[in-house]
Amino acid sequence: MSVILHPTAPEIARAAALLAAGELVAFGTETVYGLGADARNGEAVANIYAAKGRPSFNPLICHYASARAAFAHVVPNAMAEKLAAAFWPGPLTMVLPRAAACPVARLAAAGLETLAVRVPAHPVALQLLAAFGGPVAAPSANRSGRISPTTAAHVLAGLGGKIAAVVDSGPCAVGVESTVLDLSGPAPVLLRPGGVSVETLEVVIGPVGTGAPMIQGQAMASPGMLASHYAPGLPVRLNAGTVAADEALLAFGPPLPGAKLVFQLSAMKNLTEAAARLFEALHELDASGAALGLTRIAVMPVPNTGLGRAINDRLSRAAAPRG
Ligand code: TXA
Ligand code: MG
Repeated sequence: MSVILHPTAPEIARAAALLAAGELVAFGTETVYGLGADARNGEAVANIYAAKGRPSFNPLICHYASARAAFAHVVPNAMAEKLAAAFWPGPLTMVLPRAAACPVARLAAAGLETLAVRVPAHPVALQLLAAFGGPVAAPSANRSGRISPTTAAHVLAGLGGKIAAVVDSGPCAVGVESTVLDLSGPAPVLLRPGGVSVETLEVVIGPVGTGAPMIQGQAMASPGMLASHYAPGLPVRLNAGTVAADEALLAFGPPLPGAKLVFQLSAMKNLTEAAARLFEALHELDASGAALGLTRIAVMPVPNTGLGRAINDRLSRAAAPRG
């Protein structure tokens, strides 16, 4: 059962408590309804992908109550500060390098070294974020491949029963998603057109590049399919039934014998736990494996059902021949 919460102080407090307990809570923003989870909780983030039925892990936007809170988790630059002053709260998302002490789960950014942050303009969303007091990862609250929801009824039509609650703050005023701007490189690049027009951005920061070709309204560099995702430095071998002496092991269930270095995705073969730990696992095996002189990562089979599809999608990209 998914409960409908009203935008009153006690019900917003209840929504915040559900988020803190690792539950999924959809909420209205000025753009579209978001499917929120505590961004620091890898399993809660994994449940976002499960509820959406997403076959791959796309990096998600983290929502904050203030620019100050957002900029504590990334490394802002002068342009980001200017944009925050001009457009936050509002429908602009900035992609910036992760701060060294960033507590956001690796899965939320699909293993990237950058993080997309935004301060939404809807007063109810801001109250919820303030009451929760932490980063909320939230893609649009629709099933994968469906259109984005702009009312609580849309959310429930697609995700009813799969989420703990939806905070009904009425229809969304903007109705299209936020503009996604990559500020992590030498020059700003538009990754997704959205609620703030490029022309308006350019008044504040000058020319904005549109780096990659657009596919279905999203730049190629943005969605889940791309090279920008974390790929380990060590080659990856899938469906391992044995481990060689020079291999690190990514285990799922009881580990294969003989590995010098093992990262356990889920001893109990729980796909949600495995999804939550996947990118952390690749980072860790890469770093420690290279330090130990290992030359490859062997991966035990993961079933191709539910979140396993997204896990296998990511693993097969990690294992694909390098260009
Ligand atoms: O208006 C919105 O932005 C809505 C509301 C709920 O805030 N949220 C939303 O989130 O549309 P989502 O997850 O559906 O879209 C996130 C977009 C995707 O195009 C994703 O690829 C891109 O942002 N993105 C997220 N993190 C990124 C990163 N670190 N680097 C590059 N692109 C990133
Ligand atoms: Mg979406």
